[in-house]
Amino acid sequence: MNILLTGANGQLGKEIRHLLANNNSPLGPVSKTLREAKLFSTDVAGDNIQPLDITNAEEVSSFLETNKICAVINCAAATNVDGCEENKEFAEQLNEVGPKNLAVACKKADAVLLHVSTDYVFSGDNPMPQTEEAICAPNTVYGKTKLAGENAIREIWPKHFIVRTAWLYGKFGKNFVYTMMDLGKNHDSIKVVDDQHGSPTNAADLAYEMLALLDTENFGTYHCTGNGATTWNVFAQEIMNQAHLNCTVEGCSSEEWAAPAPRPVWSILDNKHLRDTIGDKMPSWDVSLRTFLQD
Ligand SMILES: NC(=O)c1ccc[n+]([C@@H]2O[C@H](COP(=O)([O-])OP(=O)(O)OC[C@H]3O[C@@H](n4cnc5c(N)ncnc54)[C@H](OP(=O)(O)O)[C@@H]3O)[C@@H](O)[C@H]2O)c1
Repeated sequence: MNILLTGANGQLGKEIRHLLANNNSPLGPVSKTLREAKLFSTDVAGDNIQPLDITNAEEVSSFLETNKICAVINCAAATNVDGCEENKEFAEQLNEVGPKNLAVACKKADAVLLHVSTDYVFSGDNPMPQTEEAICAPNTVYGKTKLAGENAIREIWPKHFIVRTAWLYGKFGKNFVYTMMDLGKNHDSIKVVDDQHGSPTNAADLAYEMLALLDTENFGTYHCTGNGATTWNVFAQEIMNQAHLNCTVEGCSSEEWAAPAPRPVWSILDNKHLRDTIGDKMPSWDVSLRTFLQD
């Protein structure tokens, strides 16, 4: 089995590579089929990586054909939420045209497509955990282009998994946990927003569930986040506590923080489809944070 991984140099892409190479998830083993698969790790550029630009339809299609790809895991995306507001065309290319190109190529090659999406497809106004069937109403360029990418895949190719996640952190990226730890080492006190709610997600756990899904034919849309919910402020406090950092985390409002793109107030996803199919092994967000910091 030949698998194509796109965006393989990103935070989640590296986590997938790490898990396939080491089979070391606390959530369970990776299947033998996937461990023995030949992985083609690609990204738009970078050292020791095969170049593949997902915005180039011909390049994508010929890559799948030449390498007899049976499954594609798409971790490539424009993920800078504020950057997407400033450069809409770039966001559209990466988050909409790229997934569309992959879906077309997968259809031609009869390959399964596993695509990663986001909580930003929702409006962020609903305090209830959102199931996969909840109505999407994004209000950022990032969210709108990610939803357009999802919809392009749905229209083109039924053999897909669309996995929405949120508040992602991991050992391979610049992310909230590392930022808080750096701040905690150098400051006695910091301010973190306390009016946005969501579920921190360890990329290693997400990678495990993605590979578990890929081992099935239960195609469709899935939510996959750490279980339970919190605010960025409480998340930051928990990071300081668990990392034994002597830094007070004070609250502030989103208004005070004033990010260029609006952030969802409520970003809690319900992993319902996982529970109903392969089972939801995602740990509570605080348990997973402990595992991450211990590692
Ligand atoms: N991070 C989060 O908190 C979060 C939350 C919810 C959902 N998600 C979703 O999770 C997925 C993975 O996110 P991540 O945090 O791993 O993102 P990431 O670290 O930004 O990785 C994205 C990768 O895609 C690459 N890329 C850029 N343009 C490309 C192109 N034209 N062709 C191929 N690859 C290209 C990037 O390369 P360069 O770095 O060189 O540009 C980067 O290596 C995305 O779909 C994202 O929307 C993330």
